Amino acid sequence: MSKQDLAIETEGLVKTFGKTRALDGLDLQVPTGTVYGVLGPNGAGKTTAVRVLATLLRPDDGQARVFGLDVRKEADAVRGKVSLTGQYASVDEDLTGTENLMLLGRLLGHRKPAARERAGQLLEAFGLADAADKQVKNYSGGMRRRIDIAASILNTPDLLFLDEPTTGLDPRSRNQVWEIVRLVVAHGTTVLLTTQYLDEADQLAARIAVVDHGKVIAEGTPGELKASIGAGAVHVRLRDAAQRPQAEEVLARELGASVQLEADPVALTARISGDETKLGAAEQASRALSELSRAGITVDDFSLGQPSLDEVFLTLTGHPADDDAKEDEVAA
Ligand SMILES: Nc1ncnc2c1ncn2[C@@H]1O[C@H](COP(=O)(O)OP(=O)(O)OP(=O)(O)O)[C@@H](O)[C@H]1O
Ligand SMILES: [Mg+2]
Repeated sequence: MSKQDLAIETEGLVKTFGKTRALDGLDLQVPTGTVYGVLGPNGAGKTTAVRVLATLLRPDDGQARVFGLDVRKEADAVRGKVSLTGQYASVDEDLTGTENLMLLGRLLGHRKPAARERAGQLLEAFGLADAADKQVKNYSGGMRRRIDIAASILNTPDLLFLDEPTTGLDPRSRNQVWEIVRLVVAHGTTVLLTTQYLDEADQLAARIAVVDHGKVIAEGTPGELKASIGAGAVHVRLRDAAQRPQAEEVLARELGASVQLEADPVALTARISGDETKLGAAEQASRALSELSRAGITVDDFSLGQPSLDEVFLTLTGHPADDDAKEDEVAA
């Protein structure tokens, strides 16, 4: 990848707060024109990284460039290219959707008719037309995230930071935010998205960096990452507990992976390998299920799950994601 194709490039980036090394040698290479996912647990350094890249915080050491511009020496130029939707965002609660977007448009130097038109377009595109004249304090959590994102792309930025845009949202609102992210990228904006959910990064991101303690501990396409951490697990519930030993054998043979017997005597869980040379997870699971049925084993229920962030961390680091957070709590 040539340097010009990178929206973000950091090398050995360090940011400390007292004794905490929030960023501890962060290396990122974010290609332009795509969604780049930064996946990490609480305290991994995601928000700190975003704030350094958006020039809101000065790094203590290392390099960070945004479209080739140094975040320290060329901060003003960087600010002209980026926009940030913070984890705790900042539209005015007392104003309506339209008023917020128009106010921001005016602040960005648009004339009133242009600001009104752009506000209308964005509210329409983000499914907020009906709520245009409601005060933002009456918006649901999902509507609130959408107006936050709308506010941050009034002037189509080259690079948009979305810091945990769906944390705390219900599945439907999450999907709406995902649609918006896709819309934004389709218009040519590069998006750096932080998240605590592997499935979200998987849905949206072309590449993912897994961050822990201010460092990248794994990087690649969602496919590559899943190849290294396993593609997920299939959970099966049998009609008859007596068939469980036989089911265990079939699943182990078909999936070539370890099968776990649950406390519930009719339930089993089999991990699915993420090896890309093999079939996709759904295909592997469906073959395993037809083998069960061929063996005369009745399956009452099954589900296919992606690995959670906890499982990802367990596999990559050998410890659960929140181990250190717990230690910190004890220490505090
Ligand atoms: N202003 C600050 N002062 C002191 N410590 C801070 C400050 N900002 C962040 N930290 C610490 O730096 C570390 C990284 O924090 P950061 O907010 O970047 O994590 P995060 O990945 O965004 O977490 P979350 O998922 O909870 O938002 C944490 O240990 C946090 O307590
Ligand atoms: Mg954060």
